[in-house]
Amino acid sequence: MSRQRILSGVQPTGNLHLGNYFGAIRNWVEIQSQFENYFCVVDLHAITVPHNPATLAQDSYSIAALYLACGIDLQYANIFIQSHVSAHAELTWLLNCITPLNWLTDMIQYKEKAQKQGENVGVGLLDYPVLMAADILLYQADKVPVGEDQKQHIELTRDIVDRFNHLFGKGEKVLKSPEPLIRKEGARVMSLTDGTKKMSKSDPSELSRINLLDSPEEITKKIKKCKTDPQRGLVFDDPERPECNNLLTMYMLLSGKSKQEVADECADMGWGQFKPLLTETTINALKPIQEKYQAVMDDRGYLESVLRDGREKAEALAVSTLNEVKKAMGYSLPI
Ligand code: AMP
Ligand code: TRP
Repeated sequence: MSRQRILSGVQPTGNLHLGNYFGAIRNWVEIQSQFENYFCVVDLHAITVPHNPATLAQDSYSIAALYLACGIDLQYANIFIQSHVSAHAELTWLLNCITPLNWLTDMIQYKEKAQKQGENVGVGLLDYPVLMAADILLYQADKVPVGEDQKQHIELTRDIVDRFNHLFGKGEKVLKSPEPLIRKEGARVMSLTDGTKKMSKSDPSELSRINLLDSPEEITKKIKKCKTDPQRGLVFDDPERPECNNLLTMYMLLSGKSKQEVADECADMGWGQFKPLLTETTINALKPIQEKYQAVMDDRGYLESVLRDGREKAEALAVSTLNEVKKAMGYSLPI
């Protein structure tokens, strides 16, 4: 039996932070050997908010290098850049035409981002989830490993599949319904400056997040300044202490210890003892990723060959699905 397929992606906007790592990439690494994997750098999504043309290409390469640095293994996975496979944009158009507008205006992430953008909301921001659906459906992915914030977009993808198959499938399932894979621990890493907000690339304060490529000095500073509370004794799951829960969870994930071990270790600690411990653990956990990243970035030829291979494999599959979709919708195919 052939393996089930996985597709996921991260946007090349800014640095990757611990939320991206624990919500997404680390999970990809852990399960990759059981699946056939497609991991893309979603650079078409990156322009749904104002972007910098001078850094877009470099940022995309950098994210691809981070995938490798975090342990994505080419034996199991294809890594590619979304805009290199034009079928993504084309399927988006076809799906746009069967997606009701109110499905998109209802999306939480759209509402949040649109509010931040004020008057300059582009059509692309509204259409973002349809592009994401196209990403997933082109590869007929079975599973989509993401952080909690993407669950609604995957539900929308499933609604689009049902609608498409109903309208054009003639009883056949032309498109496959994907399932989200969301892990409980790490699915929502919170901001260092406010334990009730998720850690995010778009937070204007650098102090709110730890990036995978932060230097030991930056990590030390950010943890020193992070928000805590006046209580002694550190515990998980106290709704009155969101920062405490978040920092303990980060420590648990970075150290590889179990929740019980961390709860026992930190039960009597104060922040003055815990912060240096978290700092050291974070620096040590990120060091091997940073070293591998540098090695990959220093070998541009290698990175290009990875992306070329990834694109070739991705494109073959994507074009075949796109053709099925076009046939079902009544198009003639290019001769
Ligand atoms: P993005 O930064 O929006 O490109 O997100 C890339 C991936 O990281 C997606 O799977 C998100 O669900 C995940 N992600 C982003 N922020 C967080 C966070 N604070 N906690 C957990 N996962 C996150
Ligand atoms: N929207 C996702 C995010 O911001 C990124 C993304 C784009 C994605 N296309 C995807 C994730 C397809 C999984 C599958 O996190």
